[in-house]
Amino acid sequence: MLKALIIFFGLLALCYAASVGTTSDAPDVCQSEDELWGGEDIRKFYFCLDGQVITDECDPGYYFVNNVTISGCLPADLMKPSCVNLDTTVPDCTGTSKLQPQAADDVASFYLCTSDGAKELPCPDGKAFVSQDGYLGCFPWSEWRSLRNCVDD
Ligand SMILES: *[C@@H]1O[C@H](CO)[C@@H](O)[C@H](O)[C@H]1NC(C)=O
Repeated sequence: MLKALIIFFGLLALCYAASVGTTSDAPDVCQSEDELWGGEDIRKFYFCLDGQVITDECDPGYYFVNNVTISGCLPADLMKPSCVNLDTTVPDCTGTSKLQPQAADDVASFYLCTSDGAKELPCPDGKAFVSQDGYLGCFPWSEWRSLRNCVDD
């Protein structure tokens, strides 16, 4: 009996680990049968295939938009400016750039100055980089959206 219980809890723990390991914000309900839709992560979009939600991601430098005129991945320079980083530069690692992480063109990455110079690092899964209004670091996409004011009009 005890053995069975241990196996049961072991399985529970495994299932829990598996569900935490997969990306958290992926919807599991079809929002539309014939259209793409977006989520908090501006790079991702979803569609339905045989009742299953499929998650896909725009190419690097492209972001997902779904409004009256457009549905699909747009290059950064056609996006709402509050949603993208255009023309960021690799920090020279002097002055303040040496001390704090800096924005990169990829909104989910940042530059960090190390003893080997500037390195571009990704935010942890589910987060994007913010450096404004006293916020500095990787924040969940929903928070990133409201801090950046990158919301649908
Ligand atoms: C749709 O989104 C694109 C990109 O952000 C924008 O240029 C366009 O004006 C939007 N259209 C409407 C009707 O909001």
